Amino acid sequence: AIYGEGRGNSQGINLNIQSQWLPLKTAYEGFFNQQWTAAPLVDGQRLEGRVRPVHCPWQRSQQVGEVVWATAEQTTDAISGLQRAFPGWNATPVEQRAAILEKTADLLEQNMPELMALCSREAGKSLQDGIDEVREAVDFCRYYAQQARQRFALISLPGPTGERNELYLQGRGVFACISPWNFPLAIFLGQVAAALVCGNSVVAKPAEQTSLVAMRCVELMHQAGLPKGVLALLPGDGAEVGSVISSDPRIAGAAFTGSTQTAFLISRALAARNAPLAPLVAETGGQNVMLVDSTALPEQVVRDVLHSAFASAGQRCSALRILLLQEDIAGRVLELLGGAMAELQVGDPSRRDTDLGPVIDAEAREALQAHIEEFRSRGRLIAETPLPAGLDGHFVAPVALRLERLDELDREHFGPILHVLTWRSEQLGELLEQVNATGYGLTMGIHSRNEQTVAWIDQRVRVGNLYVNRNQIGAVVGVQPFGGMGLSGTGPKAGGPHYLLRFVTERTRTINT
Ligand code: NAD
Ligand code: ALA
Repeated sequence: AIYGEGRGNSQGINLNIQSQWLPLKTAYEGFFNQQWTAAPLVDGQRLEGRVRPVHCPWQRSQQVGEVVWATAEQTTDAISGLQRAFPGWNATPVEQRAAILEKTADLLEQNMPELMALCSREAGKSLQDGIDEVREAVDFCRYYAQQARQRFALISLPGPTGERNELYLQGRGVFACISPWNFPLAIFLGQVAAALVCGNSVVAKPAEQTSLVAMRCVELMHQAGLPKGVLALLPGDGAEVGSVISSDPRIAGAAFTGSTQTAFLISRALAARNAPLAPLVAETGGQNVMLVDSTALPEQVVRDVLHSAFASAGQRCSALRILLLQEDIAGRVLELLGGAMAELQVGDPSRRDTDLGPVIDAEAREALQAHIEEFRSRGRLIAETPLPAGLDGHFVAPVALRLERLDELDREHFGPILHVLTWRSEQLGELLEQVNATGYGLTMGIHSRNEQTVAWIDQRVRVGNLYVNRNQIGAVVGVQPFGGMGLSGTGPKAGGPHYLLRFVTERTRTINT
C-alpha cells in the first residue's frame, strides 16, 4: 500500500508536481532575507527586555532575527492577567472558539511560504519538513475545532430521579503549554489550540531555540480573532520561565512536550505547589525500535529505515533509534543500507534534493558527535554518510552503529544515529522483554510477512504507536493519534479523540423541574 508520510491531510501539496512546488518554493525563498522579532506578548503588548540574536542553524553567520526573553516577574504578571481573562473566555460559546481555530488554519495556509521559511531559517527544517509542519498545524486546528463542537455538546441524562440531569464540559482555568523546538509550529500550536478551544486561557512557553516561529503563530491567532488577553507568549529560559510557570499555584493544568527529564521536573513542580491538583499531559522521548524478521523484504526495509531514522535529521521523538535485524537477513539489509546511506545528501535544507539538514544547535551536534566517536573508537561504525566540504552549520553525518546489547543505550540520542543489533529466532521473546524494559514506549516498527509474528509482538510490546511494514514516523492528525506510554508520556494522544478531555472539567447539573 502507498501510505502517508506525515504530510497531513489538509492541503495536498505534492513535491513531485512541478506546477505545485515551484511557485511555493519561489515564494518561500522570497522570505530568506527577512528578519523576524519575538518578545513576551501579554494582552497583545510586546514587553521589553534584553535582546538576543537568533542565528540560522545551517548558515551560522546569518542572523534571522532577535528575541527578548521573558523575566520571572513578567511571567507571574502574565498569569495574573490570564486568570482575569479566563471567565469571559470560558463563557464564550464553543462555536465561536472553534471558528477562531478554523480561521487560524486558513491564515496558516495563506502564510505557508513565510512559515516554511521561518521553520527553515530558525529550526533548520527541510523544504518538505516545512510543508509538513504547516500542514500538521492546520490539521490540529481543524481537528480540535471539530472535536470541541462534538465534545462540548450538552448531554442529557434522563433517569429515575425525575429531575433534569445534564452533563457538560468547561475549561479548567489558566493552562500552561510548554513546547519543544523540533515541531516549533505544529506542536506549539497543537497544545495551544487544544487548551484554548476548551475555554482555558493559556500561558505558552516555546522552546528557547524557536521563539520566532511561535511569535508569528500567535500573531496569526490574533488576526484570526482570538481575544488578546487569553493567550500570553513567554519566550525564555526553560529553567527560569518554565519553572516559574509550573510552580505557580494558579496553573490549572499543563501540556508539555519535550524530554523525559524535563517532564519529571514539571511533574514535581506541579505536585509541590500548595494548590489544587492539576493534570499534566506530557509527551516525551523514545527509544524506538524496528524489528525485522527473515520474511521481510530487504529493499522495503531499507527504504523505511532511511526514512524513519534520518528524515528530519533524526530529530523526531518517533524516529527509529535501534534496528533489530534477524541474523538471516542482516547481511543483505546492511549491505543495501550502507549503499543507500552513501547516497544521502546532507546540507542546505532549502534545496529540494537535500535529504538531511542540520541539527538544531552546537550543543546538540557536540553531544551526538561524542556518542558517535565513542562507538567509532570501539570499532562499532557500520556505515556513515560522507559530509560535503564547506558546510557552515550544525551538521552531523548520518551513521549506523553496531550494538552488542540493547541495554548499552541508557538514553535517547536525538539525531541521525541508527543503532543496529542482530538477533536469532530463539531470542525473540527475550528481545521484546528488553524492549519493554527500556521503560520507553513511543513508536515501534515491525517488518515481517508472518502475520502470527506480528500478532504475537502486538500483544506483548508496550508502545503507543505500532507501524507494520512501513516507516514509523509522521503520524497523521485525526487518523493516527500519536503518543506514548511509560517514560514516553502520559497520553492522551495528540490528534486523537480523547486529547481534549484532559483540558476540561466536567459539570453535572441537576434541576428539580
Ligand atoms: P526539552 O525538554 O529540553 O525542552 C522542552 C521545553 O521545556 C522547552 O520549552 C524548554 O524551555 C522547557 N523547559 C526546560 N526546562 C524546564 C523546566 N525546568 N521547567 C519547565 N519547562 C522547562 O526538550 P527539547 O530539546 O526542546 O525537545 C526534544 C525532546 O522532545 C526529545 O526528547 C523528543 O523526544 C521530545 N519530543 C517528544 C514528542 C512527543 O510527542 N512524544 C514530540 C516532540 C519532541
Ligand atoms: N507526530 C510526529 C511523528 O509522528 C512526532 O513523527
